Amino acid sequence: MIERTVFLEVSDLHVSYGQIAALRGVSLKVMTGETVCVVGPNGAGKSTLMAAIAGGVKAKRGAVTLAGQPILGNKPEEIAGRGMSLVPEGRQIFSSLTVAENLKLGGMLQGDASKARWMMGEMMDLFPILRERASYPAGRLSGGEQQMLAIARAIMTNPEIIMIDEPSLGLAPKIVDQVYEILAEIKARRGVTLLINEQSSARVLKHADRIYVLRGGQVQLCDDAANLQDGVAIKQAYFGFDREGV
Ligand SMILES: Nc1ncnc2c1ncn2[C@@H]1O[C@H](COP(=O)(O)OP(=O)(O)OP(=O)(O)O)[C@@H](O)[C@H]1O
Ligand SMILES: [Mg+2]
Repeated sequence: MIERTVFLEVSDLHVSYGQIAALRGVSLKVMTGETVCVVGPNGAGKSTLMAAIAGGVKAKRGAVTLAGQPILGNKPEEIAGRGMSLVPEGRQIFSSLTVAENLKLGGMLQGDASKARWMMGEMMDLFPILRERASYPAGRLSGGEQQMLAIARAIMTNPEIIMIDEPSLGLAPKIVDQVYEILAEIKARRGVTLLINEQSSARVLKHADRIYVLRGGQVQLCDDAANLQDGVAIKQAYFGFDREGV
């Protein structure tokens, strides 16, 4: 049996924006090589969770460890340097730069030029559309292509864990399927660990090893995806029917 180790651990994390408590004691574990999805409605705290892990927002309380080392309070670039890559909500690619330039920027972060060139070739094999569009300004790509570019750029940093905030956002269902197929391929090739935020549980149930439901800044449910396939427990946790007696 493969002994899995905890790669990312979040313990009792609290984050507030002024008076608004966005995370209220969130704890979560991601094992090495796992795909963990955080599902939750609008305003649940999903983006805040990723931002806090990546060092983009300050936590009030709690702990985050990556490969056993505490990272909470570290600068985003230090955390990135430890093998963590974030694909933020809305992708944040440089729209006036070309596709190739966007990828190069990702590669620069890992500091090894020849490896970055090799990785760029690998990314273009994995995403043939990016090779085709290499000299296009990234802003002219479709939403799906931009999502592919954002993911490819994240991989260019040679991460051990990639956090992707709502990869499905604004994409047609067919394109979402393509994105998830590519994520599965990346996992198969590179053994990368994935933490993914989504608003809808549909795809997540198919692709995740484990699922957390976040609502109101708190974890409502955490279980193996295999135990959640009928969708009943997820729906209850997501909408809070249990509490409202619906
Ligand atoms: N920069 C900010 N300033 C003030 N409040 C914020 C800020 N960012 C988020 N919030 C609030 O924190 C809470 C959690 O927001 P967050 O964006 O993390 O949720 P989310 O689950 O990512 O939602 P969505 O599905 O809409 O992306 C919400 O109440 C939101 O209004
Ligand atoms: Mg969000």
